[in-house]
Amino acid sequence: MSNTSPPRVIPLHDLRHSAHPMPAVEKNGAMAGGALPSDRLGRPLRDLRISVTDRCNFRCSYCMPKEVFDKDYRYLPQSALLSFEEIVQVAREFVGLGVQKIRLTGGEPLLRKNLELLIAQLAALRTPEGQPLDMTLTTNGALLARKAQALRDAGLQRVTVSLDGLDDRVFRQMNDVDFPVSEVLKGIEAAQAAGLGPIKVNMVVKRGTNDHEVLPMARHFRGSGIVLRFIEYMDVGATNGWRMDEVLPSSELIARLKTEFSMLPLQAFAPGETAQRWAYADADGRRDTQAGEIGLISSVSQAFCGDCNRARLSTEGQLYLCLFASGGFDLRSLLRGGASAQELAATIRAIWERRDDRYSVLRASLPTAPMATPGRRVEMSYIGG
Ligand code: GTP
Ligand code: 5AD
Ligand code: SF4
Ligand code: SF4
Repeated sequence: MSNTSPPRVIPLHDLRHSAHPMPAVEKNGAMAGGALPSDRLGRPLRDLRISVTDRCNFRCSYCMPKEVFDKDYRYLPQSALLSFEEIVQVAREFVGLGVQKIRLTGGEPLLRKNLELLIAQLAALRTPEGQPLDMTLTTNGALLARKAQALRDAGLQRVTVSLDGLDDRVFRQMNDVDFPVSEVLKGIEAAQAAGLGPIKVNMVVKRGTNDHEVLPMARHFRGSGIVLRFIEYMDVGATNGWRMDEVLPSSELIARLKTEFSMLPLQAFAPGETAQRWAYADADGRRDTQAGEIGLISSVSQAFCGDCNRARLSTEGQLYLCLFASGGFDLRSLLRGGASAQELAATIRAIWERRDDRYSVLRASLPTAPMATPGRRVEMSYIGG
């Protein structure tokens, strides 16, 4: 008799093509002008996350579990992907409407061929005030050692690397493709050498899986110039089998850090930030700037929807207004149907002005567990983190 448990069967409702109806706008884009748009909750549009591929070379169980993303999984065909020209066309309109930061995501963005060409075009965009954008990218680091310099040369400013621990055995299990920690660390070093900073490292913390790595990670990155951020494991998507008891709330996380380090809360740089910042303190209780800072991303225990200024463009050109949305708005059809720049801008404006998404706040007030309705949310690997 075998002692292996039967494979987990995960129902996947494919929401990739469930688009919301588009708002009607005048073809000449008469609605396009005027002040920058705010949504129904008064939130501006500042941050655009562009997913450039739905593929990844890792199979992190909290994001692309092998049981679903196996050899039979149908990724988007090349023809469905927005081309670089289309991405730039859309991004230009977003920048005109207030976007100041662009993050390239995936899947794993470094898997997209010739990504440097896209970066160079996006880096040339300017805000209406003539300012360059904050251009960054989230990567698992596997291809970073090879690509860091080319990314920098193309105009990328900084990178954020996902790394869930330094314990090689645990990390190999979490990425589920047996990828070693040492290669990711080499990628981070290459990014530092190429000047892709400030570098951030994102660690998703799952209680019982990698929470014993919190202190070793803090020790490792303290004083390195790299900002380590601890992320509460979220109920995003519908395939990761999320359970509340696997979330390590940030309050508990900071208490663990305080067993070894003295920590001081810092002010946010800007409204709408995901992370609460904490600095290391010296023996006199003053901020130790050499030691640097960490971030806590508490989307489960302390929702930060109130100032959420993030829009997400999926690999095939759907605009998502929330990480937990069940549908997007099909900008690709508009583009491929020959819409003018004004029409595109007016449509994005109208969509943003109707936005009232605030999933994390609502989740916190739900009487039932969030996963009570699995299958109604798009996957994070499709719209990016
Ligand atoms: P910086 O500009 O470098 O500070 O990046 P950021 O924190 O805005 O973005 P990043 O993609 O690094 O976010 C880190 C993690 O926070 C993501 O991987 C998600 O787990 C989570 N996150 C980011 N944006 C949102 C959001 O809008 N809602 C929720 N619930 N979680 C988010
Ligand atoms: N919970 C929290 N963060 C997640 N990410 C992916 N899935 C989850 C999840 N379930 C984030 C991680 C990873 C990035 C690509 O997406 O930050 O580093
Ligand atoms: Fe890939 Fe990042 Fe998802 Fe892991 S979390 S499977 S590295 S996209
Ligand atoms: Fe923004 Fe939705 Fe995340 Fe809230 S849950 S912060 S609205 S993306």
